[in-house]
Amino acid sequence: MNILGISCFYHDSAACLVQDGRITAAASEERFNRSKCSPAFPLNAINYCLQHADLTMKEINAVGFYEKPFLKFYRVLLSHARAYPFSFGSFCRTLPGWLKERLFLPLILRKELCYEGRIVFINHHLSHAASSFLVSPFEEAAILIADGVGEWASTSFGVGSGVDVRIAKELHFPNSLGLFYSAITTYLGFEALTGEGKVMGLAGYGSPVYVDKFKKMVIVRPDGSFMLDQRYFGFNKGGRMYTEKLIQTLGKERRPQDKVEQRHCDVAASLQKITEDILINIVRNVHKGTGMKRLCLAGGLFMNCVANARILEDTPVKELFIQPASGDSGGALGAAVYVYHYLSRDNRRTALKDVYLGPEFYDREIKRAFINGDIVFREYADDELLKYIAGQIAQDRIVGWFQGRMEFGPRALGNRSILANPCNPRMKDLLNLKVKRREDFRPYAPAVLEERCAEFFDVLQQSPFMLIAGRVKEEKKGVIPAVTHIDNTARVQIVDNDTNSRLRGLLKEFENLTGIPLLINTSFNLRGEPIVCRPEDAIDCFKRSEMDILVMGNCVAERNGIS
Ligand SMILES: [Fe+2]
Repeated sequence: MNILGISCFYHDSAACLVQDGRITAAASEERFNRSKCSPAFPLNAINYCLQHADLTMKEINAVGFYEKPFLKFYRVLLSHARAYPFSFGSFCRTLPGWLKERLFLPLILRKELCYEGRIVFINHHLSHAASSFLVSPFEEAAILIADGVGEWASTSFGVGSGVDVRIAKELHFPNSLGLFYSAITTYLGFEALTGEGKVMGLAGYGSPVYVDKFKKMVIVRPDGSFMLDQRYFGFNKGGRMYTEKLIQTLGKERRPQDKVEQRHCDVAASLQKITEDILINIVRNVHKGTGMKRLCLAGGLFMNCVANARILEDTPVKELFIQPASGDSGGALGAAVYVYHYLSRDNRRTALKDVYLGPEFYDREIKRAFINGDIVFREYADDELLKYIAGQIAQDRIVGWFQGRMEFGPRALGNRSILANPCNPRMKDLLNLKVKRREDFRPYAPAVLEERCAEFFDVLQQSPFMLIAGRVKEEKKGVIPAVTHIDNTARVQIVDNDTNSRLRGLLKEFENLTGIPLLINTSFNLRGEPIVCRPEDAIDCFKRSEMDILVMGNCVAERNGIS
């Protein structure tokens, strides 16, 4: 049975293919159309999934869509009506999108893909829940979802057992932790959707001195629920997500071009603290209600690896599972696996061990891309390649590392990565200067060999997907300064024996040379752009940056080889 899952029309469009219960392909549309967080109908991602499995749409048994468009439209209509007349401009901007495409998925599938088969629409939070629990290693677990908003729900919890996923309770829009975090993100001068991770990084530099002010904006109840005081927020009114009252409370907002001051760091730290506290309160209540110590998380809020670590630290939960495409792109995966189990009642397959579900490219395609890009390259044997590149990284050269199938979800986990030396205290600045051009307060994350992870980091459980922050051991802070954030945390990717042998091989070679079993691993993209997908994208990124070396498969190009 072949099931195609789709998420689109809001942000992070994606497609995912499930064949007889196994996820065989998944990718975000942004990687193909090169528009970050693209909301477009994921035609390229769907075509990739079909090509990968050598299928046509005629062989797709059902399409799962990640939300219920009419229910969502009803929420949009009603919430705009409630905010009238302030919402009028926003409503006029929103309406054409709904009337043109969002309400008419069957017509679009018929037009773009000649598909006339079954389409199953699944609640947004049920898609998120399925995207985590149904691919988790747990036979039974509690489930918690938190994001901006789906149809109505912004926070949901439930229970998964076998192939059943049930939502037990929901909190509704406009009471949304995700929108709360995004609103303050925009107040701090960063963009919603892409800026939340920056705010999490900024929080490390501040003190939570504004928590009492935030407590006036969010009323938290002992049962875990919360309510946002809407006098501070403007989710339906078009324009900005916060009101004058919020500015009166926290002070003048930061414009994107303004310098980051200590006050901004303190607001970020306070936001992070109150968000974590609210989550802890919810999780404790979920635990009280279910008695379960295993918890599956999904929804954009759980890209927050610092909050995820605090859940493990401060609640009775002992084990977390977070599927790495935890935001809306993962809705495509959730819809596909949910529909598969709904139709087949088949048992669950093995848990998702990795997310290398995107396109890969043959050697001849890589070589052709180098030649077409006028770049001199040299081909190495496997062992020779790993030794050479490890040596170059040890000499502080920055390496673009393009291997195998592209990762699904926003984290680069060693197949579309930029790798660098974690021991050089200047490496963060060098990476920012030569390649990433990121804000200097943002940390870089390490990929570390599993067997030596505990020597360097205190991480409360396995973290294969860079979604749980660990604490850098006191005695190692000076050894790996480039991956130690100001608050002494690191967003660790633990590399085990089975999942990525090539990355592991490189880590081993670096360890042999330096004694250090980890590398900086950051995503292969420039600021504001999606992660590279094809060899041509990697070459383009290589040319527009000052990266020292580009490795694709076994082919190596050096910066001086660009003609
Ligand atoms: Fe969502």
